[in-house]
This record gives sequence, C-alpha cells and structure tokens, in this order.
Amino acid sequence: MEKHIMALQLSHLLGEQFSREWVYNKIEIPKKPHLGDLAFPCFSLASFFKRNPKEIASQLASHLKHDLFYEVQTAGGYINIFLNQAFVTEQTIKQVLTDPSTYGSHSFGTGKTIVLDMSAPNIAKPFSMGHLRSTVIGNALSNLAEKCGYTTVKINYIGDYGTQFGKLLAAYQHWGNEQNVRENPLKELTKIYVQFHQASKDDSSLIEEGREWFKKLEQQDEEALKLWKWFKDVSLEEFDKVYELLGIEFDLTRGEAYYNDKMDKTVEMLKEKQLLEESEGAQVVRLDKEGLPPCLIQKSNGTSIYATRDLTAAIDRYQTYEFEEALYVVGHEQSLHFDQVKEVLRNLDFDWADQLKHISFGMMLTGGKKMSTRQGKTILLEEVLNEAIQHAASNIEEKNPELLNKEEIAKQVGVGAVIFHDLKHDRRNDVEFSLEDMLTFEGNTAPYLQYAYVRGRSLLEKGEFHIEQADASLIEETAWPLVKWIRHYPETVLKANSNHDPSLIAKFLLDLTKAFNKYYAETKILHGDQQNARLTLIYVFTIVLKDGLSLLGIEAPEHM
Ligand code: ARG
Repeated sequence: MEKHIMALQLSHLLGEQFSREWVYNKIEIPKKPHLGDLAFPCFSLASFFKRNPKEIASQLASHLKHDLFYEVQTAGGYINIFLNQAFVTEQTIKQVLTDPSTYGSHSFGTGKTIVLDMSAPNIAKPFSMGHLRSTVIGNALSNLAEKCGYTTVKINYIGDYGTQFGKLLAAYQHWGNEQNVRENPLKELTKIYVQFHQASKDDSSLIEEGREWFKKLEQQDEEALKLWKWFKDVSLEEFDKVYELLGIEFDLTRGEAYYNDKMDKTVEMLKEKQLLEESEGAQVVRLDKEGLPPCLIQKSNGTSIYATRDLTAAIDRYQTYEFEEALYVVGHEQSLHFDQVKEVLRNLDFDWADQLKHISFGMMLTGGKKMSTRQGKTILLEEVLNEAIQHAASNIEEKNPELLNKEEIAKQVGVGAVIFHDLKHDRRNDVEFSLEDMLTFEGNTAPYLQYAYVRGRSLLEKGEFHIEQADASLIEETAWPLVKWIRHYPETVLKANSNHDPSLIAKFLLDLTKAFNKYYAETKILHGDQQNARLTLIYVFTIVLKDGLSLLGIEAPEHM
C-alpha cells in the first residue's frame, strides 16, 4: 500500500517520463532500521535532471505527504520514509482479522485457468528425485495460482509409452517373475530392465526382440497389452503411496499413451501446413529459422515419439481448458524439447503457443553428483520420505515423549522437511540432498517454521486468547519488524506467482518467523495492559505462517 502511494506521488512529481511502475520497481526496503521503512534511490535521475542525486532527493522529499508516512528524510541520494507505526500496525492487523482465510489473496486470476503438467513419473521405474521436484514445485505453483484467483488443473502426465516398453516386455519374457513383480513391482521391473541392458551389450538379438515387442504393443497385441496394463497398474499403485505421503492430489492422471490414437490428426495438420519434411526416412519439422535443430515427428519405421505426443496433448488441453497458461514443470534437461514443441505449435499458427511455459528446475545431487536410475544408484523416494518421518519421530521421542498423535505429527514434520528443503532453493539451481539439513530445528527448515507456529499457538493458549477480544491497537517498538513482514505477505504471493517461484514464499516465511522469534525473545508477551494486543499480533502471525506453509504444501501441527 505505502509502496504504491510513494510510487504514485513520486511519479507525479517526476513527470511523464517516469511511470508509476518504474518508480515502484526502484523502491527499496532498507535492511537497517535507521534508514526507514522505504527508500528511493535518486542516482539514476541525475543525468536526466542534470542535478546531483542529493539535491533531487531533498527536493522530492519535501513534497511527499500521507497519513501513512510519519517522517520523510534524505540520506545521500536516497529518500527514506519512516511509516506511521501505530497506524500501519492497526491497519495491518485489522486487514488480517477481517477475513483470515483470504489474507494475501488476489482476484485477478478469476475466471481464468492454468494447466500444470507435473510429476509425470515413468511406469516401471522408481519415482525419482526429479519427479519429486516436479511434484512439489507444481503443487506449490498451483496453490499460488489459486491464491490469485485462478482455477488450476493439475495433470499427471505419466510416462507410459515409448520404445523402452518393448525392451521391458522382452526382458520380462527372459527374466520376469510374476510373484516378484506383485510383491515389489518397481524394484523388480527396474531390475529386469537393467538386466536387459547388460545382456543386450553381448547379444544384439535382444534389441531386435525389444523392437518386436514394441511393435506388438503398437498393434494392440493382446499379450503385450495385458502385460503393459499390469505394469502400469502396479506402478501407479506405488506412485500413489508417494502422493499419499506428500498429501498431493491431481485433477487428472493421463499418460502419454492416451494420445497414441490421436496423433494422426496432428501429423495431418503438419502435412497440410507443409511443415513436414523427410530426413533420413524420418519425418521432421525444420526449425532452422528459429535457430533450433529439427523436431522429430515420426521415426523412419512409422512410430511416433515424445514430441508428437506432447504436441497432441497441448492441442487437446487448449481445446479443453482454453488455458491462460500451461506450465510444464520439468527438469532443465528437457529445455530443447519444450522449445521445439512451442515453435512447432507457433508454426501451426496457434496463437496460444506462447502461453506454454517450461518451468524448469535443477537436479537433486548427492555428494555433488547427479542421482541416476540407470546405475541403480537412485535413492528411492518413498524410502527417503519414510526415513525423514522416522527421523522426525525419534526427535519427538527425545524432546517431547508425552505428545499425543505422535505418528501423525512425525509425518507432518518429516514430509514437510523434505518439501521445504526443495522449495527454499531457487528452482533453477541444483539441490544437494541431505536428510540432516532438512530436519534440524535450528536451520532454515520446515521444522524450524513449524516449531514457531507451535510456540505461537501455545502462547495464545496460555494467554487464553479469544478472537472476540482481538485488539489491533498495539503500540510497541519491538513489534514493528514483525508487523512489516506480515504486511509484506500479499505482495510476496503476487511476486511468487508471477515469477513462478515458490522459493520467494519459503524465504518470506523464514524472515517472518525470524522476526517473530526476535519479538518473542525481546518482549514479555503475557503481562500488562498490552497483553491482548500482543496476543492479537501473534494470532495474526500464526494465520500468515500457516497459510504460507499451506501454499508450499506443508502442514502446521498444533503441537510438536
Ligand atoms: N515422463 C517424463 C520424464 O520422466 C516427463 C514428462 C514431462 N511432461 C511432458 N509433457 N513432456 O522424463
């Protein structure tokens, strides 16, 4: 609010060349309290006005006035505004109290739909760390979009098709064991798949067998189809265990295979537009003009591929949802693929092609190296989650053995820790995997945040706080930094949504919670005539913290 007012007033003073938006983006939040609550640097104005920044600052400062501003000062080439703390505190607390469930929400997305392509593990393979990243990032982005008013459609685009399934079917003929697949599907199927790879190095006839089986699958051969369906069902059951632990649901689980009989139309369209070209027997769309390698549409043996399915799926999704944006939450390594898909759609004259966005992310590393499936080195995600839960359970046992609902809380803490560890990093960076780091109460972790929530709730309990007695008229110096963070929430939501960056929420929650802990350490909460006003602020803090955690897909237990 105050930032908008400052921007509005300054842009009026500066004249047409300087839009409100330009000014707004230049406003800073000073780290040091003696520099005020808002600051505007005048250095970039110097050459335009042909005066030094210091003069410009004091000239402008003398005209800034508003009820929200307590004092306007200058320091060097900066304008520093000190806000009216009592006024702003009251306004902020009242704003949250009016409707706690919608604080931080926006409505600009109302009536528009965002489609998210996320998670997308491959059947007969373990659920990898990459798929975990896609799942939790996608879920947070969906929550953020909903908080901004959008309707979201979360689609789990399962990898259930491709030539590798021919290999898997062939492998099953040689080494498959029905009992083992039933008992431990992903482990067993991965095992025979790896076995197939090893063996085919010395025996090239196996590769041919794999091809045969894939052909059978494409021709809907009964035996091939039956096995494929079975592998798919048992894999999905395994994946569901992970989703259940994470507490994440999809609006639609629709794999690649769904598009098999719908791709001909896409190929027809490409032909009609004369975009298809033959290249070494295969059909491709050339993207030279766009500076990209050709997009392969059909292999020389007539089988279709990944890109063709994605093109078909994108067209289908647009027809179904008329999305405002379609977000593909998929690792960096597929950047080229999504660039190509987008360009081909553009070449097909779909004006919505630009609404497709690849939300890419880095890798999960162990000891600085990529976790990889092929060497069988992957850490199984379900094991990771269970280990985190056990870790959390033993923490509870040590610190608070009397706790009720221990199991449920250990789950909320353990799973929350894994999710937060992922989301606190800028998604584009690689993340080093470390259970220890995830679960400590001292670091920048979910348990740290959850613990502050519990502390806040227990203060409210101890002080017998009731919402009917809420009092927004807090006048207390030490409360100010906490109030400012609470006030910052709506803008943070907005920015995290428009940048597709959940880490902004994660970082905000850490700052918010640090401010709370500092307040708690510096201030005696339960005493004197301001007790109720202090508790009201703490109540508001717990509302915002819990809401922010829920945006990330993390629960806030009442006790721990
Ligand atoms: N299943 C693929 C993989 O694991 C990811 C699919 C991503 N989504 C898409 N529309 N291509 O690599």
